[in-house]
Amino acid sequence: MRSLMRLARNTDSGAGASGRRPARKRPLVERARSTRPPAGNGRHPRPLAIHVREVTKTYELGQIKVRALRSVSLQIERGDFVAIMGSSGSGKSTLMNILGCLDIPTTGSYLIDGVDVSSLDEDDLSDLRSRKIGFVFQSFNLVSRTSAIANVELPLAYAGLDRATRRQRAAEALGAVGMANRLDHQPSELSGGQQQRVAVARAIVTNPTLILADEPTGNLDSHSTEDVLRIFARLNAEGRTVVLITHEPDVAEQAKRVVSLSDGKIVEDRRVTAVHEAPRVLRNLKSAHHSTDVSGPEAQP
Ligand SMILES: Nc1ncnc2c1ncn2[C@@H]1O[C@H](COP(=O)(O)OP(=O)(O)O)[C@@H](O)[C@H]1O
Ligand SMILES: [Mg+2]
Repeated sequence: MRSLMRLARNTDSGAGASGRRPARKRPLVERARSTRPPAGNGRHPRPLAIHVREVTKTYELGQIKVRALRSVSLQIERGDFVAIMGSSGSGKSTLMNILGCLDIPTTGSYLIDGVDVSSLDEDDLSDLRSRKIGFVFQSFNLVSRTSAIANVELPLAYAGLDRATRRQRAAEALGAVGMANRLDHQPSELSGGQQQRVAVARAIVTNPTLILADEPTGNLDSHSTEDVLRIFARLNAEGRTVVLITHEPDVAEQAKRVVSLSDGKIVEDRRVTAVHEAPRVLRNLKSAHHSTDVSGPEAQP
C-alpha cells in the first residue's frame, strides 16, 4: 500500500524527484464547496458523503488477474450508517481501501463530499484522510508499549496543536468511548474490547465526518461487539457518516442500510432505518431503559 502511494506521488506530482512541491492549489474545503452539485436538484436532498461510480479493481499478480471489484456503484448520504456485508474474498476490504483513499480504483471514479479524489495530489489526499476520515480496523492497530492516551494523541501530532491541547482532546475522545479510567494503560494491559474502544477514540479524535470500520468487531466477544456497535451508533446519531464492514448478519442489522457484496459486485442494497432516524440500537436502549442516556459503555459498572 505504502509503495503504491509513493508511486502515485512520484508519477502524479512531477515534483517528486526534486522533493520540491508546486504551489498549492486552492484549499481542499473551498474546492469541495465549488464542485458540489447545486442544492435542490430533487434527487439528493442530502449531500452525498460518498459517490462511487462504476468502480472496478483488478489486482495483477504476475499472469493472474484478480477482479476484486466489478463495476461497483454506490451512493452514501451524509449521516447514513451503512453496513457492507459479504463473505470472505467478496471485495469488502478492497472497497473500504478505495473509500478511505488508501487505494485507487483500476477504472471508474470516486467522489468524497463531491470531490473527485483522482483530482487530488498526495498532499491533498493525506490532508483529506487525516481530517475527514477516521479508520478502525479488525486488529486494532494500536502502537504497543504505548499508553492509550498516547495512541489516541498520535493523529493530532501534525495538527499543530500544543501538547496540553492534544492531551485534553485525546482524554475527551477516550472518555467518549468509556475509557476515561484507562488513559495510561498499554494495549497489552487492555482487553480486546477495550483496545478496540481506544482505536475508536483514535479514529474520532480529529473529529472526522466519516468513520470507516473494516470488521471492527471481528476479534471481539459478543459483549464487546455490542459496546462497539453502540459507540458507532452514537457517533452516527451525532451526525457522522459511518460505513461498517462485516460478515456477520447480526452486526449488519444494527446499521441503517445494508449493502451486500458477492464476488466483487453489489447484489443487495436494503434500507433498514431512515437516514434521519436514530440508529436502532439507540432506540432499543431508550425504550428498554426509559431513558435518553445513550452514553455507551462508560455508563456500565
Ligand atoms: N493486494 C492484493 N493483491 C492481490 N489480490 C488481492 C489483494 N487484496 C485482495 N485481493 C483479492 O481480492 C479479492 C477481494 O479481497 P478483499 O477485498 O480483501 O475481500 P474481503 O475483505 O471481502 O475478504 C480476494 O480474492 C483477494 O484474494
Ligand atoms: Mg476484508
